Amino acid sequence: MNYYVMTLFPEMIEQGMNTSIIGRAMAKGLISLETVNIRDFSVTGNGRIDDYPYGGGAGMVMQPEPVYRAYESLVSRIGSRPRLIYLTPQGRVFDQSMAEELAKEENLIFLCGHYEGIDERVLEEIATDYVSIGDYVLTGGELPSMVMMDSISRMVPGVLSNQESGQYESFQDGLLEYPHYSRPELWHEKQAPPVLLSGHHGNVDRWRRNQSILRTLRRRPELLQNGEYDKKDRKFIQSLLHDEYEEKITEEEKRILAKLLAI
Ligand code: ADE
Repeated sequence: MNYYVMTLFPEMIEQGMNTSIIGRAMAKGLISLETVNIRDFSVTGNGRIDDYPYGGGAGMVMQPEPVYRAYESLVSRIGSRPRLIYLTPQGRVFDQSMAEELAKEENLIFLCGHYEGIDERVLEEIATDYVSIGDYVLTGGELPSMVMMDSISRMVPGVLSNQESGQYESFQDGLLEYPHYSRPELWHEKQAPPVLLSGHHGNVDRWRRNQSILRTLRRRPELLQNGEYDKKDRKFIQSLLHDEYEEKITEEEKRILAKLLAI
């Protein structure tokens, strides 16, 4: 996976991407990163790349020509025109399935805006995707691009040392992940769930799956409809509905589960 980031703050991207798992993946050559400083493509000669907005109003607008030149110089070096993701709170909201889809690309370009935004005309010419990382406004596209690169990189084969951890984490099957426990067995008078110490893999898997359903119900009930439920899952859901499970659930939660069984 080769990432290209068009930005006014290349050092921010480089520092952020050089550590931990992503840094290791870059050292291994599984991922590469190149930043392009849009300021180097200023057309005024003094490094200026923004101007006042036509029609007035607050803030400055990034001019189209420096962005366009930065883009053209980049794609001529790459030798193709990869997808170009413009980070904006007005975009489609990034999620795990988008990360999985983007991880299949060989090259990705991220365009980070600043100030009030980028002149619309250049976006119309070069942007293929408009992506937001959530319904809040940040000062620029750098952090969103790093969030996306981090999550996309996890999906690139070989980046995670243990492929399993990539397979079984939250969202992979549409539900939240089960809780984790390690030594000691007793901590602050809390016992680790005995089933996890039983050595019975089938029971451990069943317990984890049940916890995953329960946790999603408690924390992100709207995600439950993304899941697929087999006979054993349905049996567990029935047991929750009939108060046969050790953890009791509310009437509202029961209403959600009943709807799920009807699907
Ligand atoms: N730029 C500013 N805020 C953003 C957000 N939430 N997502 C993507 N890009 C942004």
